[in-house]
Amino acid sequence: MKHIPRRRFDCLVIGAGGGGLRAALQLAQGQARVAVVSKVFPTRSHTVAAQGGINAALGNVHQDNWHFHMYDTVKGSDYLGDQDAIEYMCRAAAHLVIELEHFGVPFTRLPNGHIYQRAFGGQSLNFGGEQAMRTCPAADRTGHAMLHALYQQNLKARTHFFDEFFVIDLLMDKDGYALGALAIEIETGEPLIIEAKTTLVATGGVSRIYRTTTNALINTGDGMAMALRAGIPLQDMEFVQFHPTGIAGIGILITEAARGEGGYLINGEGERFMERVAPHAKDLASRDVVSRAIYEEVHAGRGCGPKQDHVLLKLDHLGAEAIKKHLPGIRELSIRFAHVDPIEKPIPVYPTAHYTMGGIPTNRFGQVVVPVHTGPEEEVPGLYAVGECACVSVHGANRLGGNSLLDIIVFGRAAGNHILEYLKENRRHRAMPEDAIDRAMARLTRWDKQGQGESVDLVCDELRLIMEEHCGVFRTQAVLDEGIKKVTELKSRLQHATLRDHSKIFNTARIEALELENLMDIALATVYSAAARKESRGAHSRTDYPERDDRNWLKHTLYSREGNKLDYKPVRLKPLSVETFPPKERVY
Ligand code: FUM
Repeated sequence: MKHIPRRRFDCLVIGAGGGGLRAALQLAQGQARVAVVSKVFPTRSHTVAAQGGINAALGNVHQDNWHFHMYDTVKGSDYLGDQDAIEYMCRAAAHLVIELEHFGVPFTRLPNGHIYQRAFGGQSLNFGGEQAMRTCPAADRTGHAMLHALYQQNLKARTHFFDEFFVIDLLMDKDGYALGALAIEIETGEPLIIEAKTTLVATGGVSRIYRTTTNALINTGDGMAMALRAGIPLQDMEFVQFHPTGIAGIGILITEAARGEGGYLINGEGERFMERVAPHAKDLASRDVVSRAIYEEVHAGRGCGPKQDHVLLKLDHLGAEAIKKHLPGIRELSIRFAHVDPIEKPIPVYPTAHYTMGGIPTNRFGQVVVPVHTGPEEEVPGLYAVGECACVSVHGANRLGGNSLLDIIVFGRAAGNHILEYLKENRRHRAMPEDAIDRAMARLTRWDKQGQGESVDLVCDELRLIMEEHCGVFRTQAVLDEGIKKVTELKSRLQHATLRDHSKIFNTARIEALELENLMDIALATVYSAAARKESRGAHSRTDYPERDDRNWLKHTLYSREGNKLDYKPVRLKPLSVETFPPKERVY
């Protein structure tokens, strides 16, 4: 085989979204040699698309407390979130948001100069009381502002960037140590081995397994699929968040901040139906609740438009000034993609696949953990994961809006700190086994050889449609089982699919083929996990098992690729320092 160039670092960070960049910054500031590999230019990572804000009990608008935030997050998770990790996140929030302010994030301001805070779904005061104003925005482009500030801070700290490199697979040795990854440079198509004492996966979510999604083309679950291929199970993959307000038909995100600022949903009869569905929280009930309500309105024949296939998000009563100040981004999106100016007319909306609650199992230090037969789970040495590709699990069965920007900042920093400690004890690079490199290269060369067969694009379109029809907002056993069958058949068709263009220079079709393999594995993980969970909890809504069943299902799912095997592990109900929030009925 041709010689493959090598580079060496203390830590390899795969992915340049907020989680990867926050971790890299901690490492670079701690004098570690850190490389960030990203398949797109870093500021195009999907964090850039996050709109409404980041949650922290700053108390700028009213008295607030991290403990109220913790309660809301546990309840929002439908009690599947691990309460130690949730306490850790909510306690850290205020300090880390102020730190972001100091990094240069241009947060929206109150007249007194403090950070503005807005209402978001599922947020309350006093453990379920009045609506809280806890979400800190930079207008409705918060992720954009954060990503740019973090990138600039990393440049200042001299983080090394490999821009537009696609990671093919993790490299591990036979003792289970993570040793870096094999990547290819997209411009040249040439492979590169990046050896690292520690590897952190921060590759984001995978809602591209669905046809209608808020997610960018890049969200293909690469890191999750790499973990599966390395024998690491994925946790809680059945829990997929459908954001209630995607632009109807295309799925582009219209931020929850639109409702936080006073917008509301109406059905085809002009009724503000969320008042009926969630009398207390109304349009700011948790996302799973609002998405189901929209779906039910439409399926009961109360939809809007000629096909009665969506509902309307009404904002015009807020006035032009408020919309221009707080919601400029979604106004632009709405004008461009829905052809309506929300200052004048309501926006047509429908639920859209948005966020993956499940992912690579980690502890609250970002260490990847796997079950062992001999006792409690164990860390995979040198391997870390943070952000949407990870499952720590702070979101459980349903994430609250504004908690994902928080998750990436809190656990990105925590992982960075833990890696610095790990590096003190593990000063040398371990030997890189040649067979690990050969296995990773085989993924690439298979596509280079394949000559005849159906096109990759067709298989991809079919996958996304199957997932929409067989693993959507509402699920039943028969529909999910059929979904498993169809995705399995499609996976075997992918073995024979083909690339027409075998050139190397900027061959994005080659990258898309590798991404589709990743999507396929994650789709199977999702539908297998969903078919097995016989209850309704958070975003996993089974019409054949409509109740939450804590006696049998208050546990995390673990899906392994080998044999599509499912296993389970307990939810960590004990917080770090406060009392447990025991499961109770979840009403808004
Ligand atoms: O609605 C939104 O702005 C999305 C926020 C989130 O997913 O956290």
